[in-house]
Amino acid sequence: MLPVIDQPFPHDLMPIPDHDEHAREDFTVTLKLYASEHLYPYDEIVYEKRAKPKFIKENGREPENCDEVHHLMMDDPFTQFWSGIARNMQESLWDTQGRIAERQLDRIEAEAKKNSAEPIGSLTLDPDFKTPAYIEAVDIHAMPGGYQTTLSEDDVFQGAVYDRGAYYYTKGMVGRHGQGGGTAMVMAVKDLYPDLKPKRILDVGCAIGWSTAPLLHAYPNAEVYGIDIGAAILRYGHARSESLGDKIHYLQMSGDDINFPDGYFDLVVSGGVFHETSNKAAKKMIAEMHRVTSPGGVCMNYDIPYGGAYNLHAQFMLNWDCYYNAEPFWRQWTGWDRTEFMANGGFDQDIVQEWWADRDHHGNFKLFKDPFDDLHTSARGGIGRVHFFGAKKAA
Ligand SMILES: C[S@@+](CC[C@H](N)C(=O)[O-])C[C@H]1O[C@@H](n2cnc3c(N)ncnc32)[C@H](O)[C@@H]1O
Repeated sequence: MLPVIDQPFPHDLMPIPDHDEHAREDFTVTLKLYASEHLYPYDEIVYEKRAKPKFIKENGREPENCDEVHHLMMDDPFTQFWSGIARNMQESLWDTQGRIAERQLDRIEAEAKKNSAEPIGSLTLDPDFKTPAYIEAVDIHAMPGGYQTTLSEDDVFQGAVYDRGAYYYTKGMVGRHGQGGGTAMVMAVKDLYPDLKPKRILDVGCAIGWSTAPLLHAYPNAEVYGIDIGAAILRYGHARSESLGDKIHYLQMSGDDINFPDGYFDLVVSGGVFHETSNKAAKKMIAEMHRVTSPGGVCMNYDIPYGGAYNLHAQFMLNWDCYYNAEPFWRQWTGWDRTEFMANGGFDQDIVQEWWADRDHHGNFKLFKDPFDDLHTSARGGIGRVHFFGAKKAA
């Protein structure tokens, strides 16, 4: 039995599919689920029983790193079969979502204007903002237009595509409101820092505010800010938050050049940002996050896991997206030690990385402390398991 996926929550701006569009998105997500439940888990068996013995016969030794496993598996017809399906489903997903959003773009733009007319939060766009080159260079995870594309003064298209599309991309794992990652973030922060009472919170790489809203709900007296790079995404996120009654301040700003004073925030977070960020920018970003964290404040992040301790086949599965899903920085990120990364950013004490989380297909996270307790969920489709890492800034 495959898991049943709910539809995303139909707030005012949500693109709503017609019958045929829904049939297409349903087909795509069902085939994705079939692949992750019934194909990917067999890849390890193919590796052990067919590919590895072949490699040993030809080379007189076992594969020594995940690149060798990568080349070996991508030569095998079974891996080629599921890999082709995975790439095709990704393209089909965005194609369908682009059509759904485009067909009703006038309505969504009108809803965005209506909902932003008397805001409780705010939107600050920067007409002189220069999109980082590494963002412009690629349509990340094969999403046409990436996060950056903005076509007009009222444009909200990329936000609309992300809202429905990324929900199905994750096979419902983010939850109907996209709240899953933010909710898990709150659980991790409250567990590790129960005394933290943040007055100001910053979500770096907030996109349309999925991960930002749970922070506001958990700390309702805090001022909550989200920064990201795309005007259309932020415009959509702002209007979406207004329609849901969430007071969030959105700003167009790069995480590697945060225009706030030193120590301005007591809690600085990011969710799923570093793996989509160039090597240079990620290092600058964590240093900036350190700078704007108040003394005694907390910086907490989640992202796809560090892969260094997985077996070579699991590393190959974990890194598939880097080669076939337009995620050029993914591989570098899975190879980085998080303690070293945080320390290089300036967090020189109390660095923690003891929480991991798995999601179900309704956005519920299960937090746990042993990353290797079960078959790695990345082997079932790349974006299941997340890893938390953070630190308290020295007081
Ligand atoms: C996978 S999305 C995660 C979004 C959000 N945290 C969530 O959970 O829905 C990564 C986000 O990081 C943003 N991002 C990438 N580079 C950035 C940068 N230099 N500054 C700010 N945001 C950035 C992208 O635009 C994108 O919205």
